[in-house]
Amino acid sequence: MFTLLATDLDGTLVGDDTALQELNESLEASINAKNLKLVYVTGRSPELFEELRSSKGLIRPDALITAVGSEIYIDGNRMAYWPTINSWDIPSVTKVLSEFKVLERQPESEQRDYKISYFYEGSLDSISKIQQKLGSSYEVIYSGNKYLDILPAGINKGSAIEFLYNYWQVPMTSVIACGDSENDIAMLSRYKAIVVGNANERLREWCSDNKNLDIYQAKGSYALGIIEGLKHFGTLG
Ligand code: GLC
Ligand code: MG
Repeated sequence: MFTLLATDLDGTLVGDDTALQELNESLEASINAKNLKLVYVTGRSPELFEELRSSKGLIRPDALITAVGSEIYIDGNRMAYWPTINSWDIPSVTKVLSEFKVLERQPESEQRDYKISYFYEGSLDSISKIQQKLGSSYEVIYSGNKYLDILPAGINKGSAIEFLYNYWQVPMTSVIACGDSENDIAMLSRYKAIVVGNANERLREWCSDNKNLDIYQAKGSYALGIIEGLKHFGTLG
């Protein structure tokens, strides 16, 4: 059975070095046997991805989705036809957000063509206010009690994966998405999914509220949870 494995990095694939090495070996065997395509799906910019890749010895993926779904790279080349958007106005988003003094702008490397990011630790009320003020043309994603990302509406980890399965002409049903926090919901809700055992509380609550979805909640953490989930879905023997 062919699998398109789309995994988040921080807190999902990465977190347990020994388990990661074990998983890498199985994945490389499946990639070589052409049974699997591996896609990393991260909130990081390519610069911060590179830091993680080199320090953790991540294997080469078939594609890399960065900046919470707003950029897609294959063999280091950015896909020019992604994202397709209707409206996106960085100055007006920045102006609206400047009214919220509790927000702290993230480093410039994380401000992308189609992603504006802040640090924020506080109540969800401000997040709803921000969404209200920005309106429905913008996607507001708050994750890990810390990260606030603004993207064009409809651009997220789930839609970026859709671009790739269409690009490769493989069925949507071959996708297995793995995650640990709220910015993964857009992919976990659309595809077969693995939620790792160390997932944060809000994501676990979301899983309890969405029992109708095809989600495997692993007992193991990080890469061990992924291995467990892939066995559940019959992808690893
Ligand atoms: C990564 C990115 C950051 C983003 C966060 C959550 O940490 O570097 O910009 O806010 O993921 O998506
Ligand atoms: Mg994560």
